[in-house]
Amino acid sequence: MSALKTRVLQVNPTAPEPALIQEAAKILAAGGLVAFPTETVYGLGANALDTKAVDSIFAAKGRPASDPIIVHLYDLAQLPTVAINIPDLAYDLARHFWPGPLTFVLQRSSNVPANVSAGMSTVAVRMPSHPVAIALLQAANLPVAAPSANRFARPSATTAAHVLEDLDGRIDLILDGGAAVIGVESTILDLTKEQPTILRPGGITLEILRTIIPDVEVVTKHLRADDEGIEAPGMLLKHYSPRAELLLFNGIQSALLPAMRTYALQQIEQGRKVGLLLPDHEQSSVADLPVEIVNLGSNASEVGHNLFSAMRLLDQASVDVIMVHGFGQTGLSLALWDRLLRAAEGHIIEV
Ligand code: TXA
Ligand code: MG
Repeated sequence: MSALKTRVLQVNPTAPEPALIQEAAKILAAGGLVAFPTETVYGLGANALDTKAVDSIFAAKGRPASDPIIVHLYDLAQLPTVAINIPDLAYDLARHFWPGPLTFVLQRSSNVPANVSAGMSTVAVRMPSHPVAIALLQAANLPVAAPSANRFARPSATTAAHVLEDLDGRIDLILDGGAAVIGVESTILDLTKEQPTILRPGGITLEILRTIIPDVEVVTKHLRADDEGIEAPGMLLKHYSPRAELLLFNGIQSALLPAMRTYALQQIEQGRKVGLLLPDHEQSSVADLPVEIVNLGSNASEVGHNLFSAMRLLDQASVDVIMVHGFGQTGLSLALWDRLLRAAEGHIIEV
């Protein structure tokens, strides 16, 4: 692809400057690519109604055409333009959770080009809550297709610097509105089947969704690239991967750190550079090891906020192996577990 000059504009995250937003909206209207902050991660936006513009998202990311893209709206009134046969439940849920980190899979309207949805008859839709995202969507007055603004299979971008690292020269503009607060992507809820199903755990938790949909289910199996009958192509196990090999430790709390220490020492003996991702309270127990350590913070929200940037930091430190453990599987930690499992490509070390 021919190299573009990628511009970065600093924008006020809470009160975005109208002139800057207008400039970005014009690029979208002209079929260009604009990366922008959302409350979850940075998105790489294009006019969702423009087949060519959507194609250029796939090209810029190096994303396979089989991986569908989420359409972003700023107003519930736009929903019938992109989806058909919308169930009442979608409107109920939208009233509770939009704008916010919840994506619905609905039946696709023919207004939305097939490449947005990788040829499927469905479309994923969400309304982000970040003021910059809302302002941009409003100014463009278009549904905007936006995957996470990272190169395919890399950790999602949570800052403008991450976007630049992955996509410099491949997109027109980055609106830099600071770090994305949540740090993990939206919850994806399939509403096209009898049984509402979470395809990807995220910012809106299973427990919260159960208060509105008591029988909501979660898809627990993660498909491998060679599996047949892929339901949601983004469920491919290899995803969110740092360059280093990532090892996910799982087991009872008291056994985790001792096992990670032992494993780290073995790796170091073999001449490998080791990186550890650990929460705040576990930092001191590995302080004596010659390893790179990144502090993930002291609770699930902080870990979510820091996780992808921590993976990128360890990549920059050129570690060969990254070791991390899970944080349980309730609340936001289920989304963290999902991202860690994918980054580890399914390789779990049970202790
Ligand atoms: O928080 C988010 O959702 C971020 C921000 C930018 O909004 N976006 C995001 O997009 O994470 P992306 O492309 O990285 O992940 C979207 C995933 C796809 O990988 C795919 O699994 C799923 O959404 N998806 C999209 N359309 C779908 C559809 N029609 N049916 C099932 N899954 C779909
Ligand atoms: Mg993504």
